[in-house]
Amino acid sequence: GQQQTVIQEPEELDESAVLVGKVEDLKVSKRIRTTVNDREVVIFHHLGKYHAMDLRCYHSGGPLHLGEIEDINGKACIVCPWHKYKIVLETGEGLYQGVNHQDPKRTKQWFSKGKKQRTHKVTVKDGKIYVTLSDVNERCDSDFYAKEKFNDEPCPD
Ligand code: FES
Repeated sequence: GQQQTVIQEPEELDESAVLVGKVEDLKVSKRIRTTVNDREVVIFHHLGKYHAMDLRCYHSGGPLHLGEIEDINGKACIVCPWHKYKIVLETGEGLYQGVNHQDPKRTKQWFSKGKKQRTHKVTVKDGKIYVTLSDVNERCDSDFYAKEKFNDEPCPD
């Protein structure tokens, strides 16, 4: 009889998914800076996972693609190079360090401000990386800086 080749169904791509680069490229650079429908977006490849978010920091529009990744309580965070705000890669949450006033020792802890930086969906198909922008009807603080043009450095303050 005839030999049948089983072709694996590729991962479905959203209709609005935009090609941003190749898996190969990201293996080396660990991050890609790009523009998706006029919006500046950064894609990180960290510990085997892809994370896409608005490139301009929700605080004052700082260039997140130039930041360092830091582990805070087991969460990978991008640290904005301008004023060192920490943003969780996975969720876009802003973290801040504060004192728990219930705690008599007043030790500093990390708290979440909730989602501040808009994150986007990453799809990998046939060695290529695609980004689908998240729903802009749900507001996010980083929207304010998403369509402005900024210089990367130095901080304007
Ligand atoms: Fe990012 Fe201020 S602009 S911390």
